[in-house]
Amino acid sequence: MCGTVGKATILGSLAHAIIKRLSHKQQLSVRIMTDTSKSHFNTIAKTYNEEVADHVRNHLIQKWWGLVGHYFREHCGVIDIGCGEGSNACFLEDKGMEVVGVDASEELIKHGSKRYPQLTGKIRVGDALSLDFDDNKFDVATLIGVLHHIYSRDDQLKAIREALRVVKPEGTVLIRESNLVNPLFRLFWNYIFPLTAKIDKFGGENWIPMKYLTGFFGGQVDSVQFFTFIPSFTPQWMLPVATKIEHRLESGRFSNLAAHYVLALKK
Ligand SMILES: C[S@@+](CC[C@H](N)C(=O)[O-])C[C@H]1O[C@@H](n2cnc3c(N)ncnc32)[C@H](O)[C@@H]1O
Repeated sequence: MCGTVGKATILGSLAHAIIKRLSHKQQLSVRIMTDTSKSHFNTIAKTYNEEVADHVRNHLIQKWWGLVGHYFREHCGVIDIGCGEGSNACFLEDKGMEVVGVDASEELIKHGSKRYPQLTGKIRVGDALSLDFDDNKFDVATLIGVLHHIYSRDDQLKAIREALRVVKPEGTVLIRESNLVNPLFRLFWNYIFPLTAKIDKFGGENWIPMKYLTGFFGGQVDSVQFFTFIPSFTPQWMLPVATKIEHRLESGRFSNLAAHYVLALKK
């Protein structure tokens, strides 16, 4: 009897030690992933704003708004997770939302607070994997171009679960990501965009396919929409013509080959 209890105790302690070690390793890996992304964005923070031209950035956010604006009500509470310098948070504030933004990069937050003084105190350093907010606080959470900078699938899913945690019941999580279904855009995102901008690294980020997310979050998917065929290097003078072509492509049968997708998840 004593022998059996003794063995069970030893096995129990061993299992406990292994679990403790694994969970420490997991926590460590989360910290390393966040730090890698954080140091990358800290390094490029000074020129981050010049990486994508204003006319392209505005074009993208306006299109995004056209697709998902109905998920917002005036004065509703929004958290922009991975807000960067806060340009999208600023856009949403101008639309009448109560916005807070968090980002892993303190340098981006510092630059953003200078660039958008109206966001001072509203954007701050924070980790998408462990948000410093109570459950059920916001009406909408946005993750705009953030997930592919989180370097493991588990952590990407963790960030989405965190976003779902902080939105109210019936609240919405809006995920915008690059769509790599189209081989041309795959080539663009992996090898051409990194030649012109420092945001993404040559050879690919941890892209997250839309189908993976819809498969994973099944019943919570409220909508999936695709948008834009305009590459980021499009000069301003070409935008009116490019927009017309884009409109045709978006409303045609190959719309799912667009460069971005936006996925709405309901809590
Ligand atoms: C491509 S930028 C997009 C920034 C902004 N959403 C925009 O659209 O301009 C990706 C951002 O994700 C942030 N990020 C990456 N991992 C993060 C994490 N674990 N927690 C918070 N922010 C993170 C980066 O610091 C960076 O600002």
